[in-house]
Amino acid sequence: MSIEQQIKRVTTKSVALLKKKGIKISALTAYDFITAKLLDEAGIDILLVGDSLSNVFQGNETTLPVTMDEMIYHTKAVSKGVKRAMIVVDMPFMSYQLNVDEAFRNAGRIMKETPAGAVKLEGGRRIAETISKITEYGLPVMGHIGLMPQSIHSYGGYSERGKTEEEANEILEDAKILEDAGAFALVLEKIPARLAKKVSASITIPTIGIGAGASCDGQILVTPDMLGLNTDFHPRFVRYYSTLAKEINKAVKAYIKDVKKGTFPSDKESY
Ligand code: KIV
Repeated sequence: MSIEQQIKRVTTKSVALLKKKGIKISALTAYDFITAKLLDEAGIDILLVGDSLSNVFQGNETTLPVTMDEMIYHTKAVSKGVKRAMIVVDMPFMSYQLNVDEAFRNAGRIMKETPAGAVKLEGGRRIAETISKITEYGLPVMGHIGLMPQSIHSYGGYSERGKTEEEANEILEDAKILEDAGAFALVLEKIPARLAKKVSASITIPTIGIGAGASCDGQILVTPDMLGLNTDFHPRFVRYYSTLAKEINKAVKAYIKDVKKGTFPSDKESY
């Protein structure tokens, strides 16, 4: 039996073990019960209830509008479909930036009101104290550095981070600072593959990459993107594993045609 099969429920300990054994960690986002169930049954290691739900579920332009209550609502739905994967929940914009106590209270709310296994926060050294406080009280934290979508307005776009030597060094230092603060894993978003490799080798906790090359300890994608549902958005780091938008379009057109012709439902489909 493989190590993955031996893991009955993915925890912070399991992801640490996967890194130690050189086994890559698979992660995807989920926002609803049925998708979470399908991803969990397929064997995904981590399910992130990402604040990307603001974009792909709610249709907002950025991740900023989603609220604590909405994150909790979606996490409750996701958790009902999950038996094995570790559920990680994004702390939404303004739920942890104000001060350490407010961040701790909101992290505590997520962990108390849902069966999540961890929370995720964006930021480098400026949130190290917050991560220390949350983890000190036994709540696992995943960090997120590189491109941080909650800071989109200060970047002015979703371009790659860590391209200058100064920014690359800052990311490298931040990774170590967050590990020391108690984070159990780090998302590295949209940074050069060479830098992600360096970061992954310089810390003992796993790195989960998105647009950060193949040397990260794991990979994450936004599920509607990789399933080809969200075809308006196709950055080069998204690989399509399906073409669901086309499939849905075909299925719905066929349904409409049958309804209009009166061939649905048939006698067999009627009572
Ligand atoms: O919200 C999200 O989906 C994320 C991933 C892109 C890592 O943070």
